[in-house]
Amino acid sequence: HRHILGLGDLAAADIDFILKTAESFKEISQRSIKKVPTLRGKTVINLFLEPSTRTRLSFEIAAKRMSADTFNISGAGSSTAKGETMVDTARNLAAMNPDCIIIRHSCSGSPGLLARHIDASVINAGDGAHEHPSQGLLDLMTVREHKGRIAGLKVAIIGDITHSRVAHSNIIGFCKMGAEVRVAGPATLIPPGIAAMGAQHCRSVRQAVSGADVVMTLRIQKERQQDPLLPSLREYAIFYGITPEIMALAAPDAILMHPGPINRGVELDPALADGPRSVILDQVTNGVAIRMALLYLIMGGE
Ligand code: CP
Repeated sequence: HRHILGLGDLAAADIDFILKTAESFKEISQRSIKKVPTLRGKTVINLFLEPSTRTRLSFEIAAKRMSADTFNISGAGSSTAKGETMVDTARNLAAMNPDCIIIRHSCSGSPGLLARHIDASVINAGDGAHEHPSQGLLDLMTVREHKGRIAGLKVAIIGDITHSRVAHSNIIGFCKMGAEVRVAGPATLIPPGIAAMGAQHCRSVRQAVSGADVVMTLRIQKERQQDPLLPSLREYAIFYGITPEIMALAAPDAILMHPGPINRGVELDPALADGPRSVILDQVTNGVAIRMALLYLIMGGE
């Protein structure tokens, strides 16, 4: 079986191929009749053991647009609430013969563990602070759509880099595709190995955003830390929030991105979130096309 566990496993040519496939699927999503029979007879299970709005729904829409049968299972409504382990749960799901299990879990590495224990394809829909590969891919697609290229662009990623799986997949993806990636945020929330990942650690948000073509801001992952050094939300908004004044330092045609959910007024000024430079809802739209491409390439494609 083929799996999508992280962008760390993919070569630049693989990423490019997925983006091209998604670009062709986007056209299907925009038709008045959106359904194609490509994955008829395939079974997809969404196993989401952490909350999600965008990822879960867009995987379900993507699968349904390709005529696969989809089933959703969440932590609260499942026997994981009675103490069943993730691997036991997944083995029981696999015993019902699905073709693909899409998993979101709070533990880094859980999709890889699952892939070793079950007889089905596994897609990582976000594992702890590790990776969120479909998010990284939809972000790459959105940038390429707006900028016409990725190589050579200056991409500023601002916020809680340490605990953000979105940041990790984006750093890996944008570096592999030839962009210059800069990160900035509270010193306690920047991992020590950032240079080894290929990104440049800027000492201030201003430095990171100056001349950037892409500004991506992130939510503080409060659910992954009890750090007493964590700034208050008020301090965070003052020192690390993206405001019109900060955005004015970016390139004149820079785009503004956020993976959602947004904490308005903390990491991002509400007027910017809804303003002309924001491509935040384009990211969500492209999420369906990327997930159609992943499901197709895993279960039906060449
Ligand atoms: N961007 C993202 O993963 O959003 P959800 O948590 O709503 O899926």
